[in-house]
Amino acid sequence: PTNQSWGGRFSEPTDAFVERFTASVDFDQRLAHHDIQGSIAHATMLARVGVLSDDERDAIIAGLQEIDQEIANGTFAWSVKLEDVHMNIEARLTEKIGITGKKLHTGRSRNDQVATDIRLYLRDAIDAVDAELTRLREGLIELAAREADTIMPGFTHLQTAQPVTFGHHLLAWQEMLARDQERLRDCRGRVNVMPLGAAALAGTTYPIDRHVTAELLGFERPAENSLDAVSDRDFAIEFTAFASVLLMHLSRMSEELVLWTSAQFDFIDLPDRFCTGSSIMPQKKNPDVPELVRGKTGRVYGHLMGLLTLMKSQPLAYNKDNQEDKEPLFDTLDTVQGCLKAFADMIPAIEAKAENMYEAARKGFSTATDLADYLVRKGVAFRDAHEIVGQSVAYGIEHGKDLSEMSLDELQQFSQVIEADVFEVLTLEGSVAARNHIGGTAPDQVRAAAQRARDALAAL
Ligand code: ARG
Repeated sequence: PTNQSWGGRFSEPTDAFVERFTASVDFDQRLAHHDIQGSIAHATMLARVGVLSDDERDAIIAGLQEIDQEIANGTFAWSVKLEDVHMNIEARLTEKIGITGKKLHTGRSRNDQVATDIRLYLRDAIDAVDAELTRLREGLIELAAREADTIMPGFTHLQTAQPVTFGHHLLAWQEMLARDQERLRDCRGRVNVMPLGAAALAGTTYPIDRHVTAELLGFERPAENSLDAVSDRDFAIEFTAFASVLLMHLSRMSEELVLWTSAQFDFIDLPDRFCTGSSIMPQKKNPDVPELVRGKTGRVYGHLMGLLTLMKSQPLAYNKDNQEDKEPLFDTLDTVQGCLKAFADMIPAIEAKAENMYEAARKGFSTATDLADYLVRKGVAFRDAHEIVGQSVAYGIEHGKDLSEMSLDELQQFSQVIEADVFEVLTLEGSVAARNHIGGTAPDQVRAAAQRARDALAAL
């Protein structure tokens, strides 16, 4: 035959360029270990139902285990002529154990095989990503608990809005990641369904037991429909969508870290080991890690759009288009794992510059809302209170004074209901402590929220 796997009906060999063009082995060899796991389970099931003898099964499994070792050792000789990871491994198996190797593919197609491999691979990868997300969340929670009393300006429109605690800000990030982890686990449930048994598209004539294979591989259940099983890639899209939202969140954190390390903000210090210098400007210390994470968000969004477009309008069932699912998925995984590791290592090492944050919070009239709320408590309608405080702020801008720096006489120009007790509400400490309800920025609330977050993580 012109090709040992399918050449029977062909009358000329494949064009040399087409052979390389259609091959996937350069990138799908990453699936080798999971391909072998799938094959071992398939052979075990075939023997269980009497399609293979026990001796044949044992020879196949021993051969596959040796091949797994060869691949791990780097001694396996990959061949583009054998197109993909599946045929490379099968050919090597037959080389090792002879004709029995040719029986492994009974009742199976590369279509259900590859779909199974990707799911097995992705399931393991998801578990690794999940562990790293947990580590990052733990780091954020502990830093937040340490910084529960640290006051910084809170922003809207990147303009000073109201004082908040740094711990509260960090726990906001933590909430984003908690939702990401939920999305990841939700996705895992749909990844963990077994295509094997669908064969090429219609199922197989052998008396296979898909429940046995599914159980051997730790799948929740066999896929319900053979046509869908070989052609579904929305589990990969879903993972990439999870990754896109996660990276969107990491990019927001990155942006703030970059801002905060600038001389203009100077809110935090990132240890030198997470930064790099400039080859021309000797003074520079650049926050490369958050910058790069911010940048890598783009490639993950690109992969999401790539996979969506790959699957758009594909007729049932398997199409060769699907071979293009692997590189975007693998790159998404590598990117997510790299970004999460960088963040999980870096976050606990952040040093807050509490004095700078405090000084920044004192600027920009961050307690103006507190003054308005004070007036309301003294009987002024909120809209009138808003106007009164606005006039006080205008006076402050003109005279270069914060509200807390004005004398009682100065404040009373704007409203007679203001009394000496106003100065308590104008302090930053008073402002944050007053927001003392669940979800609020008061230090006690931040400590309680950190504890709830710890408990939620422990219960995962
Ligand atoms: N390399 C192929 C892929 O990744 C494996 C399945 C090939 N199936 C086929 N009928 N050509 O999609």
